[in-house]
Amino acid sequence: MNAIGKIGVVGLGYVGLPLAVAFARKHDVVGFDVSKVRVATLREGHDYTQEISPEELKASKLIITGSVEDLRGCGIIIVTVPTPVDESCRPDFSNLTDACAAIGKVIAPGAIIVFESTVYPGATEEVCAPVIEAASGLKSGADFKLGYSPERINPGDKAHPIEAIVKVVAGQDAATLDTLAELYGSIIHAGIHRASSIRVAEAAKVIENTQRDINIALMNEISKICDLIGIRTSEVLAAAGTKWNFLKFYPGLVGGHCIGVDPYYLTAKAEQMGYHPEVILSGRRINDSMGSYIAQRAVKLLAMAGHPLKDARVGILGLTFKENVPDIRNSKVEDIYRELCEFGIRPLVHDPLADSAAAHRELGLTLADVEAFKDIDVLIYAVSHDFYAALGAPAIVDMVAQNGILIDVKSAMQTAALRSDISYWSL
Ligand SMILES: NC(=O)c1ccc[n+]([C@@H]2O[C@H](COP(=O)([O-])OP(=O)(O)OC[C@H]3O[C@@H](n4cnc5c(N)ncnc54)[C@H](O)[C@@H]3O)[C@@H](O)[C@H]2O)c1
Repeated sequence: MNAIGKIGVVGLGYVGLPLAVAFARKHDVVGFDVSKVRVATLREGHDYTQEISPEELKASKLIITGSVEDLRGCGIIIVTVPTPVDESCRPDFSNLTDACAAIGKVIAPGAIIVFESTVYPGATEEVCAPVIEAASGLKSGADFKLGYSPERINPGDKAHPIEAIVKVVAGQDAATLDTLAELYGSIIHAGIHRASSIRVAEAAKVIENTQRDINIALMNEISKICDLIGIRTSEVLAAAGTKWNFLKFYPGLVGGHCIGVDPYYLTAKAEQMGYHPEVILSGRRINDSMGSYIAQRAVKLLAMAGHPLKDARVGILGLTFKENVPDIRNSKVEDIYRELCEFGIRPLVHDPLADSAAAHRELGLTLADVEAFKDIDVLIYAVSHDFYAALGAPAIVDMVAQNGILIDVKSAMQTAALRSDISYWSL
């Protein structure tokens, strides 16, 4: 064991598992998860998030456990549990407070608890610390110390592994910050940014994603305006993008559990402080409306083509919340599907990565084989997985019926590849 001692990672999901595996290359690491299924499958070498390969997982010295007792003796515990929003888009801290209560039972004086879960500024000290204090009988800032280090990984993006992303680190005091900078510095090659306080680090994370959300919302609004004018947004952005300071954002569906969720943490805090955010929430509204907007556009195009809605064959390519990940949680493709169902249409949905049992359980839909995509009246190319790029534009075009409609949500296709009888539409 080295000077840093044994490390615990709580929550082995998209964030926690890659982090625990990276630390286990240099340190003794125990990874704890409440999900029995997750613990069992990881022990068998299977990571459903597809972030860590079976070979890497089997070769790792990481100890995977479903028992919080195994965290005893960890000098540093890193918390990477989900922080979703509830049905009213309010922060749901329940996973975090459950984790804090469990950690409180097993920590010893001198421990450092670091949070990587995305929260609003102040939450680590105001929400987490009291729960750990109550469960442990120890005092925050005296008997145990707090830290915060936001996670910036981008699931499915193999070009930016955790080691290659600058890590923001904050500690409750100077000594804790030094320890955490050393800890993260042992695995991160890209550099460590020492934030001046936990609140600063918490705020940095939520505003990173809020900034992306707003910029995409702006592009989505611009795409609606371009559509009314009758010009193609992708062509407008290609022209505008030739200016050196034009920001490269594109219209699209904003789903998942980061960009579409984190802004609500910031707005909740702002409202707590008596300020009612306008820009952030209007961006959220625009992005949340895009699924039904696309579905309504599909229905309008069908009607304009004189095609009866009732027996229209509609196919959707891609269900996950973004390309090249298997995650269907908060996918806005579901909004397209549901809106089409409201019109009496039963679209075929294909996804090469989504788990069909999860799609059935969580969304109530049965995934179709790609071979079923023949004679499709409206093909909605929703998620540009590499799988579809490998299939090739001619194969996708062949799925569309004579005089059919192709909705290329992200302008992923070269329009030159299209047949002249196809009506093409994109955001
Ligand atoms: N996924 C991302 O791209 C990403 C990027 C940056 C930050 N984040 C943030 O990181 C945090 C984790 O996100 P994720 O995507 O890894 O979540 P996830 O849903 O993939 O995984 C979380 C894991 O935590 C486990 N868990 C839940 N409650 C627990 C508890 N009380 N004790 C132990 N384990 C528990 C779950 O079983 C699950 O395996 C969130 O706050 C998220 O906002 C996510």
